[in-house]
Parts: sequence; structure tokens; C-alpha cells
Amino acid sequence: MRIIDFRSDTVTKPSPEMWEVIKSMDNSKLGDDVERDDPTVLELEAKAAKVVGKDAALFVTSGTQGNLISLLAQTTPGEEILVDEQSHIYKWEVGGAARMGGLMVRTFPSNKGMFNPNNLQSLIRPHDDIHQPITSMICLENSQNYYGGIALPTSLFKETRDFADQNHLKLHVDGARIFNAAIARKIDVKEYTKFVDSVQFCLSKGLSCPIGSIIAGSHEFIDSAIKWRKMLGGGWRQAGIIASMGVVALEQKWIDRLSVDNQLAKNLGTILSGMDLPINIPEPDTNILMVEVPTHLDMPKLEHSLESAGIRTHAMGQRIRIVTHSGINQDDIEYSAQIISDVIRKSVL
Ligand SMILES: Cc1ncc(COP(=O)(O)O)c(C=O)c1O
Repeated sequence: MRIIDFRSDTVTKPSPEMWEVIKSMDNSKLGDDVERDDPTVLELEAKAAKVVGKDAALFVTSGTQGNLISLLAQTTPGEEILVDEQSHIYKWEVGGAARMGGLMVRTFPSNKGMFNPNNLQSLIRPHDDIHQPITSMICLENSQNYYGGIALPTSLFKETRDFADQNHLKLHVDGARIFNAAIARKIDVKEYTKFVDSVQFCLSKGLSCPIGSIIAGSHEFIDSAIKWRKMLGGGWRQAGIIASMGVVALEQKWIDRLSVDNQLAKNLGTILSGMDLPINIPEPDTNILMVEVPTHLDMPKLEHSLESAGIRTHAMGQRIRIVTHSGINQDDIEYSAQIISDVIRKSVL
């Protein structure tokens, strides 16, 4: 049976170019990254720092680890951080901020990731009140996964930076898919990252690497992050084997390729919207398409019916989340639209 895997862009496998690089590797390109002498890891980190316009970068095992290290390196236990109520850090990172960082995590609502930072003023704890913790950080997420891969405007980054400065806060962005967002907005990623103290982005999503994320920021931040990474068990040794694929992934043509994923999500949305189904599909900014289905549909059952028909997705609330990536092409989109439509029609009967 033909299987189309839309569960996430994390299912991507290395590109032929990445395999070529692996095949041409030898021991001269490897070292011990805990000793900070793996030349390929150092090459990747230097390249990554340049791409996002920061002083330094660190190769970490995952987006979750990168976000957590960014929090640990820039806060002190007992402090409070502000995050969107639908953010990945709050909802899907196992409460690491609280468990590992001793942080109070305070959420704020938004309109699909959009908010006026000045409206958060009442959440900032007064420094001179001995009863209250210190608010020390605010986090953005871009693209915003839960709201459907929204590509935030740079104006929100600027306004949040100003607000952070006024209130002595650090600003972190969970940029797991920040290149999809930058491409959707037709800007260089630095137009976002110039406003933040730290950025985490994933190599293992649309950029198609098998493993790994990058965190980037000042030298001081990365010096501290190296130690936190070690504490979390993320000190790896001949990591150049996997870093070599990250070096390929950060070539401009691979980053630019993400526009194809963004377009395929739009194409699927357009086809499904024209099929006279009882669904609503907000036009996606990036590579995440959310298909809103009627409230009476049982989502685990719908997800299972799609899976049985070869279409792998994840249900998210009363929505089917479809993520496009380098393993999907236009023919897959047209084929899937027909299957998805058939399954939804049968399910609503
Ligand atoms: C927005 C966002 N942040 C962070 C992560 C975590 O990345 P990882 O799965 O590499 O830990 C994800 C994963 O899907 C994500 O969607």
C-alpha cells in the first residue's frame, strides 16, 4: 500500500547529498566533542552561528534539549518565565523547565501566536516585593506549531524585544522551524534572530538531518550552555558523523528548498478546500496544514482510519495536523487529497 507520512517533518531521512558526505568521511574529520575538538562539529557550529547572525552556536541532541539548555543557561531556579499558553515549551517538553530548571512557567494567551507585549506588563513581578519571584525571560515560538505553523511577523519580535528590555528579561525563540517562517515571510532569518538573546532551531525537521538542533547566542551564553549540555547527558563524542549532515543542511539551497514544503501544504489545503467537505482549512503560512473537522468526529478513530488508508497524520484537538517535508511531492499531495476526502466523507456519514 502507498504510504504518505504527514505526521511531522521529523520523519525526513538524509538527502542523497548527506549520504555522499557521510561516505566521504574519514577519521581526520572527527574528534571528541566533549573535548571540543571535533572539527566537523566546530565547522557546523561556526556555520550555524553565521547563518543566524550570532557570536556562537552549539550542536545539541534535540529541540527539546536546546530549549531546555537555553532556559537553564539564562535563568536561576525560582524565577518565572513567560510563554504562550500553546507553546511547545509549555505543552510538550515534559515540564523540563520546572523539573530541571526550577522555573515557574506562566502562560499568556495569544491570537494564533500574535499578542501585544505591552499587555503582558501586569504579568511582570515587581522587583521590590519580597513576596514575589523574579520574572526573567520571555519565549516566542516561530513558526508556531499548535496554531498551524504561523510565521510570526518581525514586528512582534521587535516589540517583544523592546518589552523585554524595559523589563530586564531575556528573550528566547523556539525556532524549531524558523527557516520555514523566514522563507514564508521572504526575509533572511537574521531579521528574526537579531532581536533575541538565544535561538534554538532544529536540523532534524524540514532540514532533513537525522538528529540534532542548534542553539545560538552570545559567547557567554554558549560557554554556559556547553556545561548545561554536559549535565543533561548531551556531551557527545565523535558527533562529527552527524554534524556533517548539518553542514550540508545549512547550505542556502537546502534552506531555500523549504519553500517547496510550504507550497505543498498550501496546495493540499487548496485542493481539499475545493472538495465540498464539511471541513475548514485556514491557509497555511508554512509547512503545517490544519484540517478542522466537525466536532462530532472521534479524532483517534479518524486518525486511525486515515492511517489504515495509508495517510499518516496526527490529530491535534479537533484538527488533523498535516506536515509537508522533503519526502513529499506534488503527486503525493494530489493522491492524498483524494484519500483524505474519501476517509472524511465516510467518517461523517
Ligand atoms: C515548535 C517545536 N519546538 C520544539 C520541538 C522539539 O524538538 P525535538 O523533537 O527535536 O525535541 C518541536 C518538535 O516537534 C517543535 O515542534
